[in-house]
Amino acid sequence: MKKIITNGTIVTATDKFEADILIEDEKIVQIGYDLNSDGAEVIDATGMYVFPGGVDPHTHLDMPFNNTVTDDDFETGTIAAAYGGTTSIVDFCLSTPDKTLKEAVQTWHEKADDKAVIDYGFHLMINDANDAVLEELPQIIDSEGITSLKIFLAYKKEFQADDKTLFKTFVTAKESGALVMVHCENGDVIDYLVTKALAEGHTEPIYHALTRPPQAEGEATGRAIELAAMADSQLYVVHVTCAEAANKIAEARAKGYKVWGETCPQYLLLDQTDLEKPDFEGAKYVWSPPLREKWNQDVLWNALKAGQLQTLGSDQCSFNFNGKKQLGRNDFSKIPNGGPFIEDRFSVLYSEGVKKGRITLNQFVDIVSTQAAKLFGLFPQKGTIAVGSDADIVLFDPNKERVISAETHHMNVDYSALEGMKVVGEPISVLVRGEYVIKDKQFVGKQGSGKYLKRKKFNQGEVEIDTVPTTLS
Ligand code: URP
Ligand code: ZN
Ligand code: ZN
Ligand code: ZN
Repeated sequence: MKKIITNGTIVTATDKFEADILIEDEKIVQIGYDLNSDGAEVIDATGMYVFPGGVDPHTHLDMPFNNTVTDDDFETGTIAAAYGGTTSIVDFCLSTPDKTLKEAVQTWHEKADDKAVIDYGFHLMINDANDAVLEELPQIIDSEGITSLKIFLAYKKEFQADDKTLFKTFVTAKESGALVMVHCENGDVIDYLVTKALAEGHTEPIYHALTRPPQAEGEATGRAIELAAMADSQLYVVHVTCAEAANKIAEARAKGYKVWGETCPQYLLLDQTDLEKPDFEGAKYVWSPPLREKWNQDVLWNALKAGQLQTLGSDQCSFNFNGKKQLGRNDFSKIPNGGPFIEDRFSVLYSEGVKKGRITLNQFVDIVSTQAAKLFGLFPQKGTIAVGSDADIVLFDPNKERVISAETHHMNVDYSALEGMKVVGEPISVLVRGEYVIKDKQFVGKQGSGKYLKRKKFNQGEVEIDTVPTTLS
């Protein structure tokens, strides 16, 4: 079935123009003026921005973590993502030492394939990057198109890798065309500080932040950067929260290192004082790295503006407050780490970023969609509006005002960390490969209609990754 989108304003990472878009067989087949609409369903986008669908490079759906499992699965999580304007995610497939990578990936397909309503790829999330894992990695890259993996410098005894392991991973990734994502916090220091705080009787949520200082993030970020450089490899720093880390990334990029950085809506909008909320409510804001002092928000916005950070991941990792978060009632270190942001990532970047003059409209598209598609081997199939690209399209009303609330959101979690926040701009209709998933703010998609994304190797096809010039401010 053909569709034509007309009367809207198309916005990509580089352009803004008025034109029609003709869609056929899941793809954009023509962009131009007064296209022939014979036999096509006409979609009137008057007053709307026509954006490429969001690409969320960082989600944890249906994932065992911190002795429990996240509350959004591939059905609820991708429906919420679609409502929010995201049409592709790359989710973390957890690998454990008792399984081969192949088995881990099989498990993730079983979780996702019959449930996802938008397109999805997987990163590997490696909890022990031993020789067997590194040996198997090239096969998984080729057979599954999983061209990125996450290594942890935190979560001691659970996930933490030592420097040799990280270095070997960088070497293997360079040889096999994968992008290494690193969770940068010094897990040894954190382990010491957590043990000390608990011994002194400090059990409240705020101690989650106080035992994970920004210097622990800055140190680990710098270490990962230098290890990547020594291996002449490529590094993507996940969930950057603070000046200590953002500055290290900016310095490395100024030197020409192959380093990219992601931040998350939570670090742009919330701060450490949220962890001090009474009646254990601070637990709603426990994730890692933790929220920081408020002034760091400006550092992160400026880094996005200057192109020193490139992407916005939701780090969707939801746990109900009146459920799994209560595991840490008497011990902050047992609060499951994570929060719900998959649905609001796109809108809040527009509202707080574009509307408040912190980033341009083109930068919004770049950050919310294009850069992630490029870094993770999906561009130009995903991440832009162009002839030949998948027809993943968001019709966005830039003037619509609403208030974020758990009462109205679609994530399977009993609170919103952004409760009461006013946003301007809302996705009205969302198409994935030319089919409506959200139509006039109603879900009309089908369970399991999302397609698995086999991704290209890192920087294959010579995609120009940075579309925004990097400057040291
Ligand atoms: O607290 C967080 N971020 N939970 C998800 C796992 C991770 O480290 O990304
Ligand atoms: Zn992490
Ligand atoms: Zn105390
Ligand atoms: Zn994460």
